[in-house]
Amino acid sequence: MIGVFDSGFGGLTVLKEFLRVLPKYDYMYYGDNARTPYGNRSHEAVKAFTEEAVKYLFDKGCRLIIIACNTASSQVLRELQQEYLRTPDVKDRKILGVIRPLAEQAVKITRNGNIGVVGTRGTIESKSYETEIKHLNPAVHVHGRACPLLVPLVEEGWSHKPESRMILKKYLIPLKSENVDTLILGCTHYQFMLQEFKRIMGKKVQVPNPGEIIAASLKDYLKRHPEIETLLTRKGGRHFLTTDDPQRFAQVGGAFMGTRLENVKKTV
Ligand code: DGL
Repeated sequence: MIGVFDSGFGGLTVLKEFLRVLPKYDYMYYGDNARTPYGNRSHEAVKAFTEEAVKYLFDKGCRLIIIACNTASSQVLRELQQEYLRTPDVKDRKILGVIRPLAEQAVKITRNGNIGVVGTRGTIESKSYETEIKHLNPAVHVHGRACPLLVPLVEEGWSHKPESRMILKKYLIPLKSENVDTLILGCTHYQFMLQEFKRIMGKKVQVPNPGEIIAASLKDYLKRHPEIETLLTRKGGRHFLTTDDPQRFAQVGGAFMGTRLENVKKTV
């Protein structure tokens, strides 16, 4: 089974792409809705919550976990990977994040070497995208911009309201003046505003769909790692776990996924 972890609903945008590209596997989604958002939380809190979720998903039988949350991927992925590597009986379990595939794609497609990154405060302040991009190509310039008001607006269903567009425009002005030609949406929720981002940035700026890139990267990973791929069960199962109210998760999450969600349970 493949586990997908997010601080709340946002990671469903990633799961949706996994189901489209790799439908045969069993999936378990874990949304920490009771403690979302993670974006402004301390490193210690993000680490403790993510560790708890990862352990839970492994205990439920996941062999591969994707940390779909950019904030958690940025701040604690490396630490968790190293901790699990040190544990002798878990060598057949893997944890992956979302920063590397999005950074790789941006480096691949930029023409003028100016990449913009938008995300939560935690993600931007961690400089995780900058580190990853500079590692891939030290000549590229990275311009980060935290957009803390966007997550609550998306959660409220306000993605396409004029008020939200106005706020988004304010956030994007500095990136436009930095002449970025590629923009990474470094937050699960921003995919809901993809069209708004594209419209404001203009035709010359490429804004890739993060879910699509992460799904393509997972597909490639499974091809390159048959030792992990063969461990994954494939009965087409879809399980949803939330740390908050399962009914609300089914309702809001269903709207996020564009389909009815069965099998929603509260974590215990
Ligand atoms: N899932 C988070 C991320 O991708 C956004 C929501 C939050 O702040 O928890 O960064």
